[in-house]
Amino acid sequence: MSKQFDLAVIGAGAAGLMCAAVAGQRGKRVVLIDHASRLAEKIRISGGGRCNFTNLHATPNNFLSENPHFCKSALSRYTPQDFLGLMKQYQIAWHEKHKGQLFCDDSAEDIIAMLKAECNKGKVSWRMPCQVEELEQIDNGFSIRTDGQEINASNVVIATGGLSIPKIGATDFAYKIARQFGLKIIEPRPALVPLTFDAKAWEPFVPLSGISLEVDIETGEKKNKAVFREDLLFTHRGLSGPAVLQISSFWQPGQALRINLLPEVNVAQDLVNNKTTIKKNLANHLSQYLPARLVDGLLTAHGFPGDARVADMPDKRLRLIGERLNRWELIPNGSEGYRKAEVTRGGVDTRELSQQSMMANKVPGLYFIGESVDVTGWLGGYNFQWAWASGSAAGLAI
Ligand code: FDA
Repeated sequence: MSKQFDLAVIGAGAAGLMCAAVAGQRGKRVVLIDHASRLAEKIRISGGGRCNFTNLHATPNNFLSENPHFCKSALSRYTPQDFLGLMKQYQIAWHEKHKGQLFCDDSAEDIIAMLKAECNKGKVSWRMPCQVEELEQIDNGFSIRTDGQEINASNVVIATGGLSIPKIGATDFAYKIARQFGLKIIEPRPALVPLTFDAKAWEPFVPLSGISLEVDIETGEKKNKAVFREDLLFTHRGLSGPAVLQISSFWQPGQALRINLLPEVNVAQDLVNNKTTIKKNLANHLSQYLPARLVDGLLTAHGFPGDARVADMPDKRLRLIGERLNRWELIPNGSEGYRKAEVTRGGVDTRELSQQSMMANKVPGLYFIGESVDVTGWLGGYNFQWAWASGSAAGLAI
């Protein structure tokens, strides 16, 4: 015997929990279905276990999409302050870390418990773990065939997220359903992800792995140029850290990255203008600005003699050193992929959806929210803000 609901939400992650709670508290009969046995694993592991749950400065400019205006409506109707209001009701303590990024004082578990309690307040029914085998449109809604009971619902929200971190249950379910109903998809690809380099070309930089420093990083040209000032981390296979995660969402295969390892110092000018008064050798002189291990490693990797006296070096060579430090250009050969990506860029084309409700224009009653949609936030709490905002928009519309 199938059971009838007003709304079935498939995917009990950040967006699905918010959507189910909002619709349930409006008196809708809601069922929340997830194939995982542990609830909201991505919230649990986010922000190093403390969940960077929003960003105080979130605006539509912090999101990437083929259709950049789409996110405006939902974001303006559910703001970081709205989520903070909810946290206050549950007495969850939080702090600001860096550039408006808000984290739980204790644990991401507090947010999961809060969202679960909000769903229970809305009398949401749970089906977990539960595999969805088929979704079919019928008269008055949808029939959902699962590995348990069949479920009928007037509306279905797809909240199964993107492809990042398959080992904790990410699937392409949302894209499959979109295709089944003839909706376009913007090609998904890993984002907020470490970038890698050709193994041979990277070999000289391997000894630098573990070193972190604040840099300016950019990619693209003119109106497609993206620039961030954040920390960069050298790894065995390439580059990571917030600077690279941020730029990875903008980087296109084949494009160069330009990195300024010393944003506050014009190295060429410093070396050339002060050449006659610099008594130290090159490595020692540069070590006043950068960690000595980094200076030694970079000079070796680029083939500059660290023990040469600056005063003895030709200006042309000094300018080249300056360029390597202030405008280091390098071309990644790829990324660490979905295994390490925090999010997935692309997804269901937002031109197929209503920006007010997230409903598919061609399929009344079918909605897509959260990361399944082609709206990707920067690093820093923006992706959860999109999950809350899009979840709330759909929950209010049903
Ligand atoms: P989410 O992935 O949260 O939920 C999808 C749900 O659908 C899951 O419960 C999954 O089990 C379920 N599902 C998938 N396929 C299914 C199927 N076929 N059938 C049934 N259920 C299915 N963002 C941020 O703003 N701040 C942060 O600190 C971090 N930190 C962070 C760390 C790491 C390591 C990662 C991987 C990601 C982040 N993020 C983040 C990104 C953030 O976690 C992500 O954008 C949101 O969780 C997206 O919310 P959704 O609800 O759309 O998907």
